[in-house]
Amino acid sequence: MKVRKISEHVLSLGAADPGLQYFDKLMPTPYGTTYNSFVVRGEKKVALLDPVQSDSIDQLLSNLAAAGIKHIDYILSLHTEQDHSGATELLWQRFPEARLVGTAKVAEFLETHLNIPASRVQLIAENETLDLGGLGLTCVPIPFAHWPDNTMYWLEEERILFSSDLYGSHYAAPPYKAADEKIHLETTRSYYAEIMMPTSKQLARHLAKSRALDPAIICPAHGPMWYEPDKVLSLYESYVSGKVDLRVVMPVVSMHDSSKIMAYYLAEKLEASGIPVNIHHLDNPNQDLRVSMGKVVEDTVDAACLIMAAPTVLTGPHPAAGAMALMLNAFKPPLKYIALIGSFGWGSQIEKRFYDLLPQLKAERLATLLVKGLPTEEDYKLLDDYAQMVKEKLTSISEG
Ligand SMILES: Cc1cc2nc3c(=O)[nH]c(=O)nc-3n(C[C@H](O)[C@H](O)[C@H](O)COP(=O)(O)O)c2cc1C
Ligand SMILES: [Fe+2]
Ligand SMILES: [Fe+2]
Repeated sequence: MKVRKISEHVLSLGAADPGLQYFDKLMPTPYGTTYNSFVVRGEKKVALLDPVQSDSIDQLLSNLAAAGIKHIDYILSLHTEQDHSGATELLWQRFPEARLVGTAKVAEFLETHLNIPASRVQLIAENETLDLGGLGLTCVPIPFAHWPDNTMYWLEEERILFSSDLYGSHYAAPPYKAADEKIHLETTRSYYAEIMMPTSKQLARHLAKSRALDPAIICPAHGPMWYEPDKVLSLYESYVSGKVDLRVVMPVVSMHDSSKIMAYYLAEKLEASGIPVNIHHLDNPNQDLRVSMGKVVEDTVDAACLIMAAPTVLTGPHPAAGAMALMLNAFKPPLKYIALIGSFGWGSQIEKRFYDLLPQLKAERLATLLVKGLPTEEDYKLLDDYAQMVKEKLTSISEG
């Protein structure tokens, strides 16, 4: 990534990883990602925010050299996950004069995750301002966006908010042109789904704080800057509101097509009654399961209902459906309803096994519809009734 001037006193000089395919070995990143790092130069002191991941230290060091930064007074750690803090020791070797600054939680976690003794960290408290001379960075902790240690810093003089992972996106825009807004919004949504949605309850508070600061620019730890912060703040406000569209997300896995036939029939009936359905195949041989599951999770950010279609395998759900359930349980989308349909051969405990994987999901569980083998004429009638029941449930949300 090139060095970019963000404002009179702020430079962006982090690293790009355009070839990254999965973040945390889980989240698909079709546009790669960036590990953003910033330098803020006051009249007296120079601060660097977030020392990138260890693999990217060369990019950071060469950017610092290109920007003529020969001295750093403070290395601020906003969040100790290794993608932002991994290179701390390596950066220190180059700038041994720098003092490492972070909240008590950051200090604790630097020790936990990087074995950097907490005693080496100069502590900063909430609302405390690190004076750089004519400029100051004010500490605004944002616990659980998405780790306990995430911290924002507010540069009042230039109204710049360094927001850590919050408001980020996994998007390494080509260095020779501006970020594509469509891709930026798309990757912000998938990033929200997989990184922020699990802790969306805590986000409302952080969002209100961000709004109150009224930033001119938001600099997140991943992806492009927000030069019109209202765009991302409005998006997040709609996400955390828990408002849902009256549509169905339908992940499907099927070994011999029986469950798939049920899913397609139900989807057709629902669509015919005006309920949009998004089918996601969890068994696409050309697509890593993480990509399929990621698309489902993203689709649930604002969907009213999810209907899982899966066969019984060894008494429980097909393992792809089981993995999907684990994901939904972890990511906690604001679904109002969840349902399970599928085929079995001789005896099934799929319903119990599936829902045992979903203890955290608050959604109301609709009746399970299981069909023995290939659906018969009678089963199609049951699916007709099922479509009607789902439609009534969804319509009751808009009336309620
Ligand atoms: C490996 C394997 C294990 C299965 N285990 C069970 C089972 O424990 N209980 C059951 O009722 N059916 C079991 N079945 C049968 C399937 O559930 C049944 O064939 C179903 O119709 C498959 O649906 P599909 O066409 O959507 O894959 C199993 C099938 C396979 C291939
Ligand atoms: Fe993180
Ligand atoms: Fe991150």
